[in-house]
Amino acid sequence: MITLTVNGTSRNVDVDPDTPLLWVIREWLGMTGTKYGCGIAQCGACTVHIDGVATRSCQVPVGTVGEAKITTIEGLSPDGLSHPVQIAWLQHDVPQCGYCQSGQIMAAAALLMQTPKPTDADIDAAITNICRCGTYQRIREAIHTAASVGGKA
Ligand code: FES
Ligand code: FES
Repeated sequence: MITLTVNGTSRNVDVDPDTPLLWVIREWLGMTGTKYGCGIAQCGACTVHIDGVATRSCQVPVGTVGEAKITTIEGLSPDGLSHPVQIAWLQHDVPQCGYCQSGQIMAAAALLMQTPKPTDADIDAAITNICRCGTYQRIREAIHTAASVGGKA
């Protein structure tokens, strides 16, 4: 049995320690906002925060997480809408198909915790998540908007 802290709640899961954290989040805990894209840490669709750091959960064996605090898109704000990044995403109509977007939002929120006023270069360096719909320009604009109001929850 492995105990995880997810979105502030302690959860027990009876899984092999090598199971990718992404699978545990989606299949065992039933939180499907975090997406499976590539499975090889390339696309960023599976991004969650582990102790506040944007992390690609498809390549994290659940047994290595220990007592670190996991935050998924479901836990970024109490109502799922009120984090400054989520507000800015709505203002800029960022998503197209939406598949990559929870990962983009989690990556953006982690960036703003580290770098409250990122430049375009900072954004390009930190947000390497892939968007097949090409929403990169709106992502950048929304991050600047979120930064302008403080950026953090
Ligand atoms: S599914 Fe994890 S990086 Fe693509
Ligand atoms: S919005 Fe479609 S993949 Fe990013």
